[in-house]
Amino acid sequence: MKFSTNLITLLFSIATTLAQQYPGGSLSSSSSSASSTNALYSDFGVLDFANFGFEGYYKHVKTLDSSDTCACKLADNSDRTIFKGSNAPLNEEVSIHFRGPLILSKYGYYVSDQFNLSSTSSSSSKTWERLSYYDGASQTSENVTFLTHAGSNSSCLGAALSYAASDGISSASSSTILANDTLIASDDEFIIFSNITCGSSGFGKDCGVYRDGIPAYHGFYGTTKMFLFEFEMPEETSDDEDSFEFYNLPAIWLLNANIPRTSQYPSNENCSCWATGCGEFDIFEVMNQTEATHFYSTIHDYQGTGDIGTGLQNHGWIQREYGSVMKGGVVFGTDGTVAVFLSNSTSIDSTISGSDLLGWISTVSEDDGVVTSTLVSATNTGSGKVNGGANPVKFDLDMRYILTIFAIVGAISFI
Ligand SMILES: *[C@@H]1O[C@H](CO)[C@@H](O)[C@H](O)[C@H]1NC(C)=O
Ligand SMILES: *[C@@H]1O[C@H](CO)[C@@H](O)[C@H](O)[C@H]1NC(C)=O
Ligand SMILES: *[C@@H]1O[C@H](CO)[C@@H](O)[C@H](O)[C@H]1NC(C)=O
Ligand SMILES: *[C@@H]1O[C@H](CO)[C@@H](O)[C@H](O)[C@H]1NC(C)=O
Ligand SMILES: *[C@@H]1O[C@H](CO)[C@@H](O)[C@H](O)[C@H]1NC(C)=O
Ligand SMILES: *[C@@H]1O[C@H](CO)[C@@H](O)[C@H](O)[C@H]1NC(C)=O
Ligand SMILES: *[C@@H]1O[C@H](CO)[C@@H](O)[C@H](O)[C@H]1NC(C)=O
Ligand SMILES: *[C@@H]1O[C@H](CO)[C@@H](O)[C@H](O)[C@H]1NC(C)=O
Repeated sequence: MKFSTNLITLLFSIATTLAQQYPGGSLSSSSSSASSTNALYSDFGVLDFANFGFEGYYKHVKTLDSSDTCACKLADNSDRTIFKGSNAPLNEEVSIHFRGPLILSKYGYYVSDQFNLSSTSSSSSKTWERLSYYDGASQTSENVTFLTHAGSNSSCLGAALSYAASDGISSASSSTILANDTLIASDDEFIIFSNITCGSSGFGKDCGVYRDGIPAYHGFYGTTKMFLFEFEMPEETSDDEDSFEFYNLPAIWLLNANIPRTSQYPSNENCSCWATGCGEFDIFEVMNQTEATHFYSTIHDYQGTGDIGTGLQNHGWIQREYGSVMKGGVVFGTDGTVAVFLSNSTSIDSTISGSDLLGWISTVSEDDGVVTSTLVSATNTGSGKVNGGANPVKFDLDMRYILTIFAIVGAISFI
């Protein structure tokens, strides 16, 4: 079956919509490029994003309000956060999120000075060094803090972060290692941060404004970084489908680490930087019951799209196997090429050579194919200068557009 919706069509429709909504907006598609190779809609070994990262901006939270009034405030235009470069804004610190049904057996976070997936010469790739690690069987945990949404609840901000107990989902009073072979059910979620504590809460401080009383930790930095996982996502066994929001829809994803420290599931978009585009990357996500055994990968930011809720989804999918341990992860290359893969060769060692990593990825691309989604080049720093195919809107229009999206998407439909 041919995959019919390509990125160009999608972007064209967004651009058209925007042109209709904002006839005064300066939208130009001349400098954009978007393409997808390998048009077959089937399972792949590797999902690639090329040209990931752009020059843009988002707004940090300035004031959080846990009362029913819910009067959270974002930064003003004058103190928005401007970012640029490969993988931006996902080059900023991120937290790692896990939703059941899921068993996490092992995990590792790595950095490297230089790694380009697009380069065929392995000599151009430096060694990867592991800086954070969890192994359930040996109960090893290095530079890891397990948190979950079991803190105080608020109608405005949702459930606050707390330390996770060894079951991953109930609250603990201090940092606790996830027990070996812990299965979390549909809807349940735990989060991995580093073990580096945040300084005090405050706009412009190391962790920005964060919610009162939470265990606040830094996420995982870097342009050139990699996250590897050994995990199972068995079929949900509960029959009570209606009592779940995400029945049998597991996921592993990254968020700008400011999001969970403020409000991950807010009832008002001013309580988190998410809607302004600080960044989400879905690594392995099951989207719906119809495709319960397909993992999709999606970027949620404003690089060539105005619809952050839908985001930019890679056209391919990777097979979810109910009965087996799956191994793989995501590599963010120095040049803005990002690969999501599953390969049984994956080994979460303390160092990994660039050539071994390229070998794992190229073996699965040869066996199962690779699908590449190339993102448009875009610039939108909110200074009035807007380049790129489907840049959402000019500076003075941004919040209106974000509110429109928000109304469509709803406050809690994103993960
Ligand atoms: C961890 O769990 C796995 C899977 O159930 C089991 O095979 C293994 O023996 C356990 N390891 C330890 C040290 O308990
Ligand atoms: C953080 O993790 C590293 C690596 O395991 C360890 O050396 C360090 O002592 C930990 N720091 C804290 C504050 O726990
Ligand atoms: C938190 O509060 C909201 C509404 O105030 C409620 O819908 C939700 O179920 C509560 N969550 C928990 C975990 O108690
Ligand atoms: C822990 O992870 C952070 C996150 O990026 C990293 O900066 C730090 O170097 C790591 N700590 C150790 C001891 O590896
Ligand atoms: C978010 O903040 C903006 C700017 O202060 C305000 O106009 C808007 O009404 C707020 N949104 C909500 C849902 O409160
Ligand atoms: C399920 O999700 C996939 C990927 O987003 C999408 O292409 C498909 O249309 C969805 N199916 C249904 C029935 O919603
Ligand atoms: C890797 O990519 C970076 C960023 O695009 C570039 O500066 C560098 O020259 C590339 N290195 C190699 C060996 O291809
Ligand atoms: C990986 O190995 C497991 C068994 O160890 C097997 O069930 C699975 O099919 C393999 N996956 C791939 C993609 O080859």
